[in-house]
Amino acid sequence: MTILVTGAAGFIGSNFVLDWFDCSEEDVISLDLLTYAGNLENLSSLSHNSHHHFIKGNIRDRDLVSTLLKKYQIRAIVNLAAESHVDRSIQESKDFIETNILGTYDLLESARYYWNHLDKKLKQDFRFLHISSDEVYGSLNSSDQPSNEEDPYKPNSPYSSSKAASNHLVRAWFQTYKLPVFIINSSNNYGLYQYPEKLIPLCILNALKGKPLTIYGDGLQIRDWLYVQDHCSALREILKRGQIGETYNIGGCNEKTNLEVVRTLCTILDELKPRLDGKSYSDQITFVKDRPGHDRRYAIDASKLVRDFNWKPKESFETGLRKTVLWYLKHEGRMNDFMYGEYHHWIQKQYS
Ligand code: NAD
Ligand code: DAU
Repeated sequence: MTILVTGAAGFIGSNFVLDWFDCSEEDVISLDLLTYAGNLENLSSLSHNSHHHFIKGNIRDRDLVSTLLKKYQIRAIVNLAAESHVDRSIQESKDFIETNILGTYDLLESARYYWNHLDKKLKQDFRFLHISSDEVYGSLNSSDQPSNEEDPYKPNSPYSSSKAASNHLVRAWFQTYKLPVFIINSSNNYGLYQYPEKLIPLCILNALKGKPLTIYGDGLQIRDWLYVQDHCSALREILKRGQIGETYNIGGCNEKTNLEVVRTLCTILDELKPRLDGKSYSDQITFVKDRPGHDRRYAIDASKLVRDFNWKPKESFETGLRKTVLWYLKHEGRMNDFMYGEYHHWIQKQYS
């Protein structure tokens, strides 16, 4: 049997595919449009693996997706293809609407047509796993309980509203057509292979380059941090044993302010690669204008996952962050190749 992973050259996608081969016998078809965020180098260790095929293409291309589903007798789709960065959605939201909403719709329709024509056994086994975000629940106050699966959606950014819309579509395809879906709302992932536009890899890159570590607003916004491989292990568990039609929240039990995250990063860097002038990287911390519509706090209640599957994150924030920093230090040269272009100019202007 074979699974189709969309967005497989991105951050979570590449970690998921690499992990999959460590834990499973099933073949993988990786589909990715290779936007700025996709990098085939993330999957380079699989270049001689005959159980893995990479296809460059768009989840919106129904002919292509239908051909892949049929040709490889796909038994599960793991949908990780998306536009994923909140700041970019503030700069220009069109791609977010097209990929996250229309892309999910096209993928659902390709899946539904294929699934409808499967024989009984294959039809029973088929799964559509849609990966989304804790941002759909909106911002919490410090006294609020962490978001659980029953909480209403209150997205605030173009990104999170596009993800909420995609979740509604996936849910509706289950309610109306009985397509066997799962919806996953995950907290902030960090780890290897993340494009350096998100807080953690961006700060590592800027620290090493002697640039400002930009903290939006007062830096007291809270996120819950999940090591990406722990996210992948939860996804595998849900694929195996999840209840069709259900939503599962995934989090790392690591609520931290942005300032705490960046200070911890600086401490690790001070130890692993001290600055030549003997000062701390934390001297580079610079407070800048706040992100428009910046959500104050996300926190996720992942107790359903723990209860149903006995799943727990293996990595603590400190061990996960150290592994992450070590990887970026080892791949510093590769990080320099990332292009910034128009977005880089926009972000500098936006937060100056
Ligand atoms: P990413 O930006 O690193 O990767 C996205 C991948 O999707 C890229 O490789 C890109 O080339 C590909 N892609 C974009 N548009 C496509 C299209 N139309 N067709 C095919 N491929 C396309 O994102 P990520 O951080 O790996 O996130 C993956 C998913 O997980 C997203 O749905 C995101 O919303 C969700 N998520 C991410 C986090 C996080 O912290 N990174 C947390 C919760 C949920
Ligand atoms: O919560 C899950 C979400 O986490 C995912 O759905 C998104 O795909 C993912 O990008 C992430 O969204 P965030 O907006 O939380 O991630 P980001 O790394 O952009 O920012 C983390 C926090 O750090 C946020 O409060 C904004 C702040 N920040 C970010 C950057 C890039 C800064 O203060 N300075 C920065 O330079």
